Amino acid sequence: LAADGLIGARVGSGTVVLSRPEASPATDALPWRQLFAADTNLSPAIRDIIRAALRQDVIPLAASEPSPDLFPMEEVRALADSIFERQGAEALRYAAVEGLPALREAIARRLADRGARTTADNVVVTAGAQQALSILARCFVEPGSEVAMETPTYLGAIQAFRAQGARLVPVPVDAEGMRVDSLEQTLARRSVRCVVTIPNFNNPTGAVMSLERRLRLLEVTRRYGVPLIEDDVYGETWLESPPPAPLIAGKPADHVIHVGSLSKALFAGLRVGWIAAAPAVAERVALIKQTTDLFCGTFSQWLAARILEEGVFDRHVARVRPVYRRRRDVLVAAIERYAGRYLSVNRPAGGSFLWCRLADGLRARELLPYAGAAGVTFVPGDLFSVAGNDEGGFRVGFSLPPEEVLEEGAKRLGGAIEALASRRGVVSAAIGAPPLV
Ligand SMILES: Cc1ncc(COP(=O)(O)O)c(C=O)c1O
Repeated sequence: LAADGLIGARVGSGTVVLSRPEASPATDALPWRQLFAADTNLSPAIRDIIRAALRQDVIPLAASEPSPDLFPMEEVRALADSIFERQGAEALRYAAVEGLPALREAIARRLADRGARTTADNVVVTAGAQQALSILARCFVEPGSEVAMETPTYLGAIQAFRAQGARLVPVPVDAEGMRVDSLEQTLARRSVRCVVTIPNFNNPTGAVMSLERRLRLLEVTRRYGVPLIEDDVYGETWLESPPPAPLIAGKPADHVIHVGSLSKALFAGLRVGWIAAAPAVAERVALIKQTTDLFCGTFSQWLAARILEEGVFDRHVARVRPVYRRRRDVLVAAIERYAGRYLSVNRPAGGSFLWCRLADGLRARELLPYAGAAGVTFVPGDLFSVAGNDEGGFRVGFSLPPEEVLEEGAKRLGGAIEALASRRGVVSAAIGAPPLV
């Protein structure tokens, strides 16, 4: 208010509302809010989740991030040294917007190993999957364009498409992934510009799309000639058995646009993600990317390429899988123990989070201040909802903290739920079936 000249303060007289905004308020700051372009649905949600994950004084069950204690630091350090020995100053130069050939090759080879007919020419390296989604939104969306998006889904995808002015048409997710029957009705009635799905370990429900649904989804979207964006950032995070082949490995697959990232199975700080798609899409994506950051960091790309080529990635993922499986089981058991009277929780077969559903009468948003006071964070379900209405759901991550901290986090969460429930007069809950999966 002071910056906008609406209130003023004088020593000895306190703060007063000014009858007329002063031309030059206490500072010389411009009234920035009035100068910005129209709000494009910008939201602080992801920033706040990442900030909370970096805090030392709260238990970050809001996070969905691999654990730094498990990073293969010795191997990575040796690779970093060898890059400076072999590539020298080249590793710090400008690079092609599409990405380093070595990294595009390595990504294409991994996709080919999973059954796709992808070559390096189909791949564009992006600053994480978030940039990939944002570029794809720019690629297909004009203000008012309709985009079919599964719900609940990754909040960053909702934001990226809304920021371009998309009108999101929700398609429900169940235990087998996106409801393709519902999508088909949408495609028959509306002019949809693209379809967005997370077939492997949907964020936040952990649902994995069945093979039958995948085949039907490929067929339906092809029949309507609609681009199908598959966000596969969790594809390599399976804990029980590998999920079915990615959609880009299907037939037909020319209309499939595959988004991947190293953030969830390795580490997020490299900011290496990618889009693999038909040559015309790859070309368009590269031109859009060049307007935002010219290209991804050359050194990060060299490191990512060597990590993939030298088997560091595969060894790491195999080594941490049992650790994450245990963390998942510890958190499920602790949540059931400390909060089972008031919620149901799932046990996903991969990803890095559990999806909880509160008993009737309790809302996740209302739980936030209680959890904050208890020193634990989580993500309320409405943020993942395309319609913004999943009020009883919330997500807790199991990948970042070690087992004893997960246990303590669940205990704090349980205490917070007890406090909210007694405030609301919910004595004990009639809990239904676990959510979705
Ligand atoms: C489904 C999904 N897609 C994309 C992203 C963004 O990942 P990145 O770190 O690669 O930008 C996330 C991160 O949480 C996610 O859950």
